[in-house]
Amino acid sequence: MTATDPGLRRSPGISYQELLDTDSHPVPEVLRLESPKYLGSADVNSERFYKREWHELEKERLWSRVWQMACREEHIPNPGDYIVYDICNKSYIVMRTSTGHIKSYVNACLHRGRQLKHFDGRCSEIRCAFHGFAWTNEGNLKEIPAGWDFEHVNPNEFNLPEVKVGTWAGFVFINPDAKAESLESFLGEIINQFERWDLGNRYVAAHVAKKLKCNWKIAQEAFSEAYHVNATHPQILKYLGDTNSQVDIWDNFSRVITPGGTPSPLLKYTVHEIDIMRAMLDTRVDEEVAMQIPEGKTAREMGAAAARERWRPLAGDMVDEWSDAEYLDAIDYTVFPNLHPWGAFNRIVYRFRPLGDNHKESLMECFFLSPFNGERPAPAAMQVLDFHEPWSSAEVLASLGKVFDQDVYNMERVQIGCETSVKPGVTLANYQESKIRWFHMLLDQWLGV
Ligand code: FES
Ligand SMILES: [Fe+2]
Repeated sequence: MTATDPGLRRSPGISYQELLDTDSHPVPEVLRLESPKYLGSADVNSERFYKREWHELEKERLWSRVWQMACREEHIPNPGDYIVYDICNKSYIVMRTSTGHIKSYVNACLHRGRQLKHFDGRCSEIRCAFHGFAWTNEGNLKEIPAGWDFEHVNPNEFNLPEVKVGTWAGFVFINPDAKAESLESFLGEIINQFERWDLGNRYVAAHVAKKLKCNWKIAQEAFSEAYHVNATHPQILKYLGDTNSQVDIWDNFSRVITPGGTPSPLLKYTVHEIDIMRAMLDTRVDEEVAMQIPEGKTAREMGAAAARERWRPLAGDMVDEWSDAEYLDAIDYTVFPNLHPWGAFNRIVYRFRPLGDNHKESLMECFFLSPFNGERPAPAAMQVLDFHEPWSSAEVLASLGKVFDQDVYNMERVQIGCETSVKPGVTLANYQESKIRWFHMLLDQWLGV
C-alpha cells in the first residue's frame, strides 16, 4: 500500500491510539490492537433492504445456519426455566434441563405441529396444549394420551428435535444447523478480547425493545459507524471524537471505537475543556457545570475519574486498574450477524432482527449489563416499545433514549429512500463505514450471492 491508498486515509486530529497515549492509567492490550481492512469501494446494492427475495434467502441461508444469541444464561437460571426464541417464521425453545444443562428444541409438536411454547416460563414437562403429547424437559417422549391409537409411533424416534447450543460471556446462542462449526470456532479471537471485561459476570439491569419500520440491517447500520454523529447527534460533538473512531475488522466480528471526552475534529473552533465537560454532563448554557476541571487536567481524565468512583462500590479497587478509555469510549463490537456487545464498562448490548417474518420491520433491543455485588439480581423484564412509542419513554435508558430517537428518525427514511432511489446501491466511506461493508461482504458469502 502507498500513502495514497484509500484504505490508509484517516481523519485529521488526534488518532485513537495517540489519545490512548495520554491515558492516566495503563491501557490494556486489547485496545492497542489495530486491524483496519480496506475492503474496496464498490457500491453495495440496496435491494437487500427491501426485496422479499433477500429476506427469503436470509431465512434459508443465514438464520437457519448461523450462531445467534437467543438469551442470557440468567434468563433461565433454574431447571425447567425456558425462553421462546423466535427468528422470522421459526421458533425455538431454549431450556434449562434438570441436570442444569441448556438445550434447545424446535418449537413444534411432533403430533400435528402445534407450537409447543409461545411465552417464556418454567415447566416440569413440555406438554402440547392441543392433544396433550408430552416430553420431558430433556426432550424425551413422556406420554401420548390414548397411546393405543399410536402403535405406529416408535417412542425412541419421537424425541424433540434439538438444535445446537453454545454459551459465551453469559449469552446463550443457538444454531439450527446440525453441521455448523462450534460456537468457539465461530467466535474466534473475540473470546480473548472480552476476557478482561467478563460480561458473564454481569446481570441484565435493563432490557428495552423497540419495533421499527425498517429492515433489520438498516436499523443495525445506524449503530455501526460514528460518521452520522455530526448530522444526527450534533449535541454530542463537543465530547465525541466521531471521525477519529478506530475501525477494526476481524473474521466474524469487528468493532468501532469512538473516543469520548474529546471533541469532534469536525468542529472548526477550539473547544475548551469546560465546554467538553458541559456537553458530557448535558448541562444547559445558563447552568453551572457540576464538575470543575483543575489546572492541568482534562475533561476526559475528570470524566473517567468520576466514572471510576461510580463503579467502585460494585467492582472494588479493581477500578483503579482500568484505563480512562475503558470508562469513556464507545467500544462497539459486532458479532456477525446481529449482536453488538460493547467492550469495557459501557454496559450496552444491542441485538437486531426482523420483526416476525416481515422484511420491512425490525426489533431492536438494548440491554444494560451491569456488575453486581453478592447474589445475582434477577434480570430486568423486557419492556417493548411499539412503533409509535419513543425510546425516550423508557426511563431506564436515561439520556440514551433521546439519542436513539434521533437514530430512529433516520431509519424509516432510509427504508423509503432506498426503495425510491434510482441509484441501485449505497456508497460507503472507505474507512469509517468499513464495518458496514464487512457485514455485507460476510452476508453475501452466507447467502451465496
Ligand atoms: S398437535 Fe400437539 S398434541 Fe396434537
Ligand atoms: Fe446514532
